[in-house]
Amino acid sequence: MTIPKSRGIEETAVNDYCYRIFPNDLNSKGTVFGGLIMATLDRIAHVVAERHSGRICVTASVDAMHFLAPAGRGENLIYKASINKAWRSSMEIGVKVLAEDAHSMDRTHILSAYFTFVALGENDKPTSVPEVIPKTKIQKRRYKEAELRRKYRLQIAEEKKKLRLEEDD
Ligand SMILES: CC(C)(COP(=O)(O)OP(=O)(O)OC[C@H]1O[C@@H](n2cnc3c(N)ncnc32)[C@H](O)[C@@H]1OP(=O)(O)O)[C@@H](O)C(=O)NCCC(=O)NCCS
Repeated sequence: MTIPKSRGIEETAVNDYCYRIFPNDLNSKGTVFGGLIMATLDRIAHVVAERHSGRICVTASVDAMHFLAPAGRGENLIYKASINKAWRSSMEIGVKVLAEDAHSMDRTHILSAYFTFVALGENDKPTSVPEVIPKTKIQKRRYKEAELRRKYRLQIAEEKKKLRLEEDD
C-alpha cells in the first residue's frame, strides 16, 4: 500500500477551535466538567491524525493529561491540536486548551495532553503513515519530547510485564 505524501504540521493542525461555555457544561462546583473537554480533545486530535495519515484512525492512548486550571461561566474554551511525531503506524498529537474571558479575551492555559492514534489500512490492521518533518524550533522540541514519551511508555509496559510474570511464579 502506498503511503500518502507528508503534509506540513501547520496544514493538518486545528487552531483556535472555540466553544462557548453555557450552564449545562458545569459540574457541581460551577466549573467545566472535565469529561466534556476530554471528549472534544479526542475529536480534534482525531481530525489531525486523519488529516496527516489520510486513513481511518483510532485512539490508542492518552499521555499526561493535566488539568492546570479550571474554566467556568463567562469564558470560552479555545482548543489547539497539532501532530508532534509519527512512527510506523502511530502518531502523537499534542493538544492544548485555553480558557478565554468572553469579554476581555484574556487567555489562561488550562490543559495539555498527548494523544496517540493508530492509522488503519485494509482489514483494519495498523498501516504506515507519512513521517512528520519538524521545521520550527517549537516543532523540533515537540518532536523530541514525543520520542521521550514513547520511550517511557514502552519502558513502563515492559516493566509491568515483568512484574506480572513475577506474580505468576
Ligand atoms: C491501537 C490498536 C489498533 C493497535 O493494534 P495492535 O494490533 O496492538 O497493533 P501493533 O501491536 O502492531 O501496534 C501498532 C502500533 O500501535 C501502537 N500502539 C499499540 N498500542 C498502543 C498504546 N496503548 N499506546 C500507544 N501506542 C500503541 C504501537 O506502538 C504501534 O506503533 P508503530 O506502528 O508506530 O510502531 C488496537 O490496540 C486497537 O484497535 N485498540 C482499540 C482502539 C479503539 O477502539 N479506540 C477507541 C477507544 S473507544
